[in-house]
Amino acid sequence: MPTSADFQDRMLSLGLARVSEAAALASASLIGKGDEKAADQAAVNAMRTQLNMLDIAGVVVIGEGERDEAPMLYIGEEVGTGNGPGVDIALDPLEGTTLTAKDMPNALTVIAMGPRGSMLHAPDTYMDKLAIGPGYATDVVTLDMRPAERVKALAAAKGCAVADITVCILERPRHEEMIAEVRATGAAIRLITDGDVAGVMHCADPQTGIDMYMGAGGAPEGVLAAAALKCMGGQMYGRLLFRNDDERGRASKAGITDFDRIYTRDEMVTEDVIFAATGVTGGTILPGVKREPGWMTTETLIMRSKTGSVRRINYRTPVAKD
Ligand code: FBP
Repeated sequence: MPTSADFQDRMLSLGLARVSEAAALASASLIGKGDEKAADQAAVNAMRTQLNMLDIAGVVVIGEGERDEAPMLYIGEEVGTGNGPGVDIALDPLEGTTLTAKDMPNALTVIAMGPRGSMLHAPDTYMDKLAIGPGYATDVVTLDMRPAERVKALAAAKGCAVADITVCILERPRHEEMIAEVRATGAAIRLITDGDVAGVMHCADPQTGIDMYMGAGGAPEGVLAAAALKCMGGQMYGRLLFRNDDERGRASKAGITDFDRIYTRDEMVTEDVIFAATGVTGGTILPGVKREPGWMTTETLIMRSKTGSVRRINYRTPVAKD
């Protein structure tokens, strides 16, 4: 049987695009319908069906939750036909369930794949995140710096005024102090209501105008964002945050022993991976699913960290008649 060493990422990246496309198409009819759960479930079902067609011996390491909470794509679920390389899979069938339900920008379907043991088994807790795009010296900004210090250090490294830096932050009460501190420096803030995988990816795409991402969001989304940045270039740091013993217990179960550790991008994703994302609602990185009579069209981003290659695939498919 093939092993992780036979991880055929060139071919698998195209298979991964089908998986991510299928999830986006399935959730498309639920865009703007106010039902987060239904939209998520449609994406989960479609992603799982497509994944199980791939010739891989896959294990979900970042998924829909623990086995007792998630009937499908739970952490540890084996996926694929079993006739292929052993791979680890991180996925979020619908990153931005509320964005989808409310028809707001930047909802994506996201999946990353790498050899066994290549991705941090992040528990379902929060993670303090910090990310910047490529081209800067290592550690020009760190999680140990205050938000204002990060902004000033990045402006100095970029050779611009602090007022020309834009920081992306999730709009949450827990970030009020951070937002006030960044605002006091004179930097701009792009507030997002959800979707911090896209938030982090924005830093690596100059067209978005975002220089830095900071703040606390889901730890599983942190690993997915690290996989994306490993392909796109850029630095990222993450520190798990725990609110109670249950969350610490989840981390221990996932094999984490140092609860204060700061993980770099390459410590969250230790080997080369492939990454695919399809736009569900239109956003800065990807257009959303286009629906017209008889047809649906998606756009999918496929990236390989080994080569730094970025492909965009447009897929137009007839809609099955009722
Ligand atoms: P869902 O798609 O699961 O709703 O997650 C959206 C999201 O905004 C993530 O991008 C982010 O990491 C997390 O929720 C933030 O969590 P919270 O809403 O609890 O602040």
